[in-house]
Formats: sequence, C-alpha cells, structure tokens
Amino acid sequence: MARSSFLKTASVLLALQGLSTGQGTAPSTTVAAGGTATAFRPEFTIPSAADEGADLLPNINDPDAVNAQDVCPGYKASQVKEDERGLTAVLTLAGAPCNVYGNDVEGSSNTSWFIPPDMITRPQAESSFGDIDLEFNSGDEPSFWFSVTRGSTGDVLFSTEDTKLVYEDQFIEFVSTLPEDYTISGLGEHIHGLKLNSNYTATIFAADVGDPIDRNLYGSHPFYLETRYFETGSGNKTTPVKKSALDPRGYSHGHHVNHTRGHGHENGHENGTGNGSGGSPYESYAHGVYLRNTHGQEIKLESESLTWRTLGGSIDLFIYDGPTQPEVTKQYLKSIDALPAMQNYWGLGYHQCRWGYRNWTQLREIVQTFKDFDIPLETIWLDIDYMDQYRDFTLDPVAFPPSGVNEFFDWLHGNNQHFVPIVDAAIYIPNPQNASDAYDTYARGNESGTFLTNPDGSQYIGAVWPGYTVFPDWMSVNGQSWWVKEMVEWYKEVPFSGFWIDMNEVSSFCVGSCGSGNVTLNPVHPPFALPGEKGNVIYDFPEAFNITNATEAASASAAASSQAAENSLTAVPAPSTTSYLRTTPTPGVRNVNYPPYVINNVQDGADLAVHAVSPNATHANGVQEYDVHNIWGHQILNATYQGLLNVFPDKRPFIIGRSTFPGTGKWAGHWGGDNASKWYYMYFSIPQALSFSLFGIPMFGVDTCGFNGNTDAELCSRWMQLSAFFPFYRNHNTLSANSQEPFRWESVATAAKTAMQIRYSLLPYIYTLFHQAHTTGSTVMRALSWEFPNEPQLAGVDAQFLLGPNILVTPVLEPQVDTVNGVFPGIIDGESWYDWYTGEKVNAEAGVNTTIQAPLGHIPVFIRGGAVLPTQEPGYTTTDSRKNPWGLIVALNGDGDAEGSLYVDDGESLEPTESLEISFKAGDGQLKADVNGTWKDTNALGNVTILGVFDGIGELKLNGQSIGNGTVDYDKDTGVLKLSKLNELTKSGAWSASWTLSW
Ligand code: NOJ
Repeated sequence: MARSSFLKTASVLLALQGLSTGQGTAPSTTVAAGGTATAFRPEFTIPSAADEGADLLPNINDPDAVNAQDVCPGYKASQVKEDERGLTAVLTLAGAPCNVYGNDVEGSSNTSWFIPPDMITRPQAESSFGDIDLEFNSGDEPSFWFSVTRGSTGDVLFSTEDTKLVYEDQFIEFVSTLPEDYTISGLGEHIHGLKLNSNYTATIFAADVGDPIDRNLYGSHPFYLETRYFETGSGNKTTPVKKSALDPRGYSHGHHVNHTRGHGHENGHENGTGNGSGGSPYESYAHGVYLRNTHGQEIKLESESLTWRTLGGSIDLFIYDGPTQPEVTKQYLKSIDALPAMQNYWGLGYHQCRWGYRNWTQLREIVQTFKDFDIPLETIWLDIDYMDQYRDFTLDPVAFPPSGVNEFFDWLHGNNQHFVPIVDAAIYIPNPQNASDAYDTYARGNESGTFLTNPDGSQYIGAVWPGYTVFPDWMSVNGQSWWVKEMVEWYKEVPFSGFWIDMNEVSSFCVGSCGSGNVTLNPVHPPFALPGEKGNVIYDFPEAFNITNATEAASASAAASSQAAENSLTAVPAPSTTSYLRTTPTPGVRNVNYPPYVINNVQDGADLAVHAVSPNATHANGVQEYDVHNIWGHQILNATYQGLLNVFPDKRPFIIGRSTFPGTGKWAGHWGGDNASKWYYMYFSIPQALSFSLFGIPMFGVDTCGFNGNTDAELCSRWMQLSAFFPFYRNHNTLSANSQEPFRWESVATAAKTAMQIRYSLLPYIYTLFHQAHTTGSTVMRALSWEFPNEPQLAGVDAQFLLGPNILVTPVLEPQVDTVNGVFPGIIDGESWYDWYTGEKVNAEAGVNTTIQAPLGHIPVFIRGGAVLPTQEPGYTTTDSRKNPWGLIVALNGDGDAEGSLYVDDGESLEPTESLEISFKAGDGQLKADVNGTWKDTNALGNVTILGVFDGIGELKLNGQSIGNGTVDYDKDTGVLKLSKLNELTKSGAWSASWTLSW
C-alpha cells in the first residue's frame, strides 16, 4: 500500500488515455411545414414533434440495469512513484474488460482523452504542506483503491476501498463509503432541501426546465460539503454521531445556557470545531469534495455510500480539509481561482422585472408608479419583449423604438435608476433568400466562424425564441471577441447597466440541427404555446387563494379543467411505447447522442438532445458538445463579463445568468429560474440560495412572488419580505400571468416597504459582506449549521437562514398563519438574540422551537448578540441612501462585548484605489471605531443603538466630550439605549477619524 501525506487540497487525477473517439449518430429530426398557425403571422411554426427525442430508460430507474461493480475488474497499479505531494502510478485493467457502459480503457498514463479546458481552473497544490490535515492512502487489493483521511482524527473522508474503479470512454464510476446518516449538501443545481437524503440521485446536466423538484436544472456543480458531528471529548473522532439518535427536543436537557463563551464573527469569528468548555456536547468537522469534470454525471447517494458516475472525462478529484464550512468554501473558491465578484452598490437595490412589459410608455409608468407609492425601485428590467423578433442586440421598432430611447433613459438615469435587459444565448439565423431579413449580429459572427457546427462541418441550426438559431462557440478563436464587440456596439443604442443572460444551458427548442435545410421557412413561433396563448392560459392561484376565495377558486378550477381538456385535444399524445432505446458500446466508437449509460436527464425521454443543443454539435478543434455541454453557460458569462468591462472600463460588471459552473461566481450572479407562485417554491428558494453560497455564487435570488402561475396578495406579501434578505432581490413574472408588482395590493406594498426599509438600512452591512466574500471567499447567505457547527440538530435547517453571521431570518412559509416556529441557534453556547424591531433580548430556550408572532406584513428578524451592524438611513435609491447619515446597532453578547466591521468605497470601481475599512469593538461600556483608509465620506453618524444594556448607564461621551442628555433614550428594562442626533458632533463625517463612544 502506498501512503503519502497529501495536499491541503488533496487531488486525485486518474486520467487514462488512448481512446479513439467517434461521431455519434446524428438525430434525424424531420421538420414538417405547417405547424400551429398564430394569428400574428400565419407562416410556419416548428411542430412540437421537433422537440421530441428518443424514449430512454434512465439507468437508476431500470430494474434490469447491470451494476458495473458486479461485472468490472477494476485496475492494478504499477510504476508507483511517491513524492511529497502524493503519488503517480500507471493503472492497468485488472481482468477482462467489462465494457459495461462504454469501452474500457485498458492501460493508462497521466493523460486523458478529454480534460476540461484551461478556463476551468485546475486547483493547484498549496505551496506549504505544513498544516495539511489530509492523508492519502491507496492500495492494490483486491484492485486499485484510494482513500483520504483526516490526519488529526483518523476519520476516513473518502474511500474507494473494496470497490472497483470503472474507467471507460463513456462511463466512469467510483464509489466511496460514507458514515451512516451523513450530512451532505451541494451537488447542484437542484431544487432540494439543504441536506441531501440518502436515497437520492443528483443528476448533473445543464437543462432548460422550469424548476422541477429533485431533478437536474440549469447549472452544474459537482461539489459537495460534508459535515460530521462527534461527541466532544469522547475521544472517538471516527464514528460520527447519528442525528437520528439525538433527543428530538435537542440538547436542552441537562445543559445550561452559559454566558462564558462570547463569539466573534466572520471577521474574527472562531467558527471552529467544538468548544470543549461546557455548552454543546457536540462538535463537527467539515470537508469538501469537488470533481473537476464537465460531463453529464450523477451521484447516487445511498445509506452508507456514494457512487459517482460520469459520461466521460477523468477522475480529477479534490478534497478540502476545512475543518469548518467557512474554511471549506474559502479553500474551494481560492483553489479554482474564483472568489465571488464584488457587486455594485446599486445591484443590491430592488429590481423589478416581468415578461410582458409592452412598450417604453408602460415601462415608464411602472417605474413612476413605484415612485408614487414610495416603494424603492433601483433597477427596471426588460424580458425578450423589447427585442425585434426576439433577436439579440435589437429593439422592437414598434413597441420599443430607438426613437424612444433617449427620453426614457434620460429620465431613468436622472432618477439614479438602472436598466438591465435580457440577452439570450442563441443567435437568429436569417432567411438567406430574403434580403430584408438580414441580421448583422449573425452575419458578423458567421464571417468570423464563431458558431457551432454539425459533425459534417455545416452550421448547427437549432431553434429558440426568434425561430431558427445558431449558437456561439466560445472555444472558437473569435467567439468571445465577436460577442464583446456586439455588446459594445449595442450599448451605443441602448444604455444598459448590466446584462441578464438567459437560455444558456444551452437551450434549443428542437432535437438536433432541425433548421438545416429549413432556414427559408422562417418559423415565427416556438414549438409550444406561450404562456397566455390558446392552450396555455394561466388559471391557477396559489394554495391560500383557494382557502380564502372559495367561489373564485371554484370557477378558476373549472376553467382550468376545461382548458386542460382543450390542451389534451391539441397536445401530442404521450408515447405509449414501453420499448426504450438502448445502446451498447461499440469498440472504438463513442455514441455521444445515445451513450449506453442513461443519466436521469429531466427532459422528455431522458434524451440529452431534447430541449438542448445536441451532444454531437461540434466546437473548434472537433470538441464535441457532449464533453463540454455543462460549461457552455459558464463560458457565455465569461464573455459577457469581458463585454461589460469593455463597455464600462474599470467598473464592476453586473450580470445575472441562468446556467453556471464552478467558478462562475467570479463573473456573475444567478437567479433561481422558472419557479411558480406556490408556497413551496418560496421555501425552496432558501436551500437553493444556500447551495449557491457553497458554489461561490453569493449574488443569488429567485423570482419573488413566483414566475409561473398567478400569485396572490398573501404569498406575494410574504415573499417580498423574504427576498428582501436575499443578496439579489428581484420580482419577475411570466407572460400573461396577473401583474405582481408590489404596488398592485395595498398589503403587499406595505409589507414590501417595511422589509425594504430594513434591507436598505442594512446595505452597508450587506455590502461589507460582499467585500468579505470577494476578498476571502466567505458566504453572504448562510445556513444556521454553518455558523453554529456544534449543533447537529441544525444540520438540515433550511426554513430559516442567516444573512452574514449576524442577521437571523425566520420567515413565514405557509399560508393562513400568523405565527412561525423557529430555533435560536447557539443559545446552548451562550449566544443571545435581539428582536430587530424592538431591540429586546429574545427569551428563548436552547435547542427547541420557539413560536414567534408573525402576522401578515411582519417578517421575524433577529440580531445576534456580539454584533456591531453598520447601517445607513434608507433613501429611495441606493444613490440617495449613500448620501444619508450612518448608524450603528451594537448588540451586546452575554459578556457585554460586540464587534463588527464596515467597508466603504465608491460602490462601483473594479479595483478601487480608495476605500475605508472601519472596525468596531464594544466592551466595558465603550464602543471604539477604528478607521483606516483614504476614501472620503462626509456623512455624519446619525444614531447609535445599543442593545443589551441592562446595568444602567453613565455619562455619555464621544471622544471624552459629553453628548448631552437630549440625545439619549434609555430603557433599563428592555436594555435598549438609543443615541440620536449625533449628526452635529460628527458633521465632518462619521469616519473622518477613529473615535470612542462611552455610556
Ligand atoms: C426563461 C427565463 O427563465 C425566464 O425568466 C424568462 O422570462 C423567459 N425565458 C422569457 O425570456
């Protein structure tokens, strides 16, 4: 057995070479003329059959599926060479090839037939191995295996011992044992709870699909975080405690709240592994696992094992030793060179969007109505409605004429507001026989050879909103520069502030190159009914509407069923066949369109080519889409980032994208995609956001109030309040659904304003969190278990979350209630919590759910004891807010201490030359602000609120100078001390110098 101390970022690259690759079978999709006619232009619609693929049986659902572990021989290692970083070896098949779901790779060297391109940064070994807490072991009996152990505890984190390594041209499998009742999160993108269950298969394959639960979705993130809980002081660090065996009431019995242990924060927070000093009897260790592989894959989680399968590539596996979640995330993001992008200050304001804004006039009315209702609006968005026939980089000459641009934007920008347009991934290919159909963006791209091709070299032509389309090849020499130029040119016409990149999975509405030979048909409509069109009318309302509006609900449901009947007349009948297409490996040839192993792809028939560019589409140098499908979205976001840098030199690009990959966070944020106006989607927004925290894409939010379907006042009210605590805060709605801007209902307007008031007050805190994320890889939205790692009971909590370390949000996620149950984490270790609204200390017990009052319009928010939160008086826009007086909320912990920090700069420079960093420290009746940096900010300090002052106060002084009693409001019972009207004393600016405040 070879044994070697391993890397901090332990990596295992098992790459085998020497495969001949072959072209897959091109799908033969016949496009028939004469689909559903639209009233608008009754020419030609691509028939819905064009998006139907083969009927495949996903392997995990196939009762007859062969288990590769039963039939494959594994490998034997030879020429093993060890060095201080690990080992290299040559692997040779240990028996007769099994060729189970591909052609076995028989021998190896350290290369592979497909390794991700350099832009998918390969983690590098850290230069110092001194504090590495991982050991790598491997062995050859009964066949080659490897394991990674936590050195300090002996806990085996990953081990393939007693399993077979399967390495084929279209199938890789490796299996690791796991402890019982493990805690794993990540493996996205999925709509799923935070903790992945042990009978769950995470399929990873970028798909354009409206937020199905538990299935593959837009992004691909082959990364997971695993946390293992142990009893403190038991000496046993190899058998984690089973959470199922814990007292369901938590650990409140026999353990008393103690106040001996204060806490620090991200900026100083000792978020470590157990405390050993009373309090929780548990501690935890976390590690991360990343497979650098761009192929379709699935990870089968079973009760005590994990089986990782990919459709190709290599086993380029990285293990991060943590030992805490913050450390794992930082190690992971640094290793892939992807610290999250710093956000613009304005990007943290409120965004309004919908599919279906009709023209400049209506858009202006929407913006104005927000103002009339005094609901802050920072950025107005447009969906595809603004485009000329859905072509990128155009304006609809009638609805959004170029002649209306100046007036609209002079006004919008004059209000310090912003505009973000959608831009789609696919590029319209015009009818070559119709000169008036010419489309310059296509022509320029075509000339520079930037589009994907078919295996025979002809252009690959799929279909998206504009009709037949081509797809940029980001691996082509000119792909990126062409895109950048299109953006630069278009900015001269439309002064956008950022880009919203949609459909970048990359989506195509037909199987294969359906436009080949058909481009002259000029389809005018996608092969399905748009929302609101005949056969696709939205009648449904969320659950609560049915309870409170029985009559309307009954008529809506009658309408819905008659609509369903109508749909069934026009819909293509579901295939009744049970004979699935099965393929077997062909020696020397890869079948890229129908690989022998069928992943559980969410699209119809599980066909990889359905609703996506086909796997046999070809990139520069013959690279097949099959091998790189999952990074198409990542690449367009990179190109868009470069484009915005050209449009706005030295300014931070603002991008929200749909399909993402490890590393995307350094360029873009992400929204959760096409959810629906249902209560459960509001809940799922929390675990979805938390997984994107782990993936390094902190700028995350979902379509608030719901995208598909009609929302109602109650749901929208709760949701507008919840999303106010997400990093990216946008309301977006599908075409033809009832309008859902917050001003549509009085209750929603009021609820939104209440939550926005808190969000805008906290902008300095949120911005500081982003700066920390950008410089260290820390997270913005956090799971309770990450901040309180000694409480196994918090492992799966995802109906509550933390914004940074110090704001706890316990939202109402169900209709028709006016209370919510939530836990107050950390109490067992002496944590204290304060109510945001009253400033009073929460009286909660450790480890039990507390019932919290939460009538409609009220979102429970709590401040962590020990925090100093920087605030600023909210203005209508972030520009206004930035001119307002600062404030501080000092929430004392059990020891009477608190600390925090504030980062300030111009809010937009890519690399600010001037900034301010202020650190705050409170204790012994004093608050000190230590100011560093050169950025000039002249806003005064308006007020300071100190929570948890139960011992009375002395004379109030700022830098030794008495403040005067007129500015003080103190209630000894509640412990709330409010100091206001400090403006005069700090009129040269709150941060013009360091200061001390005493009470
Ligand atoms: C799909 C996107 O997910 C959605 O947000 C958008 O409204 C539609 N495409 C139309 O562009």
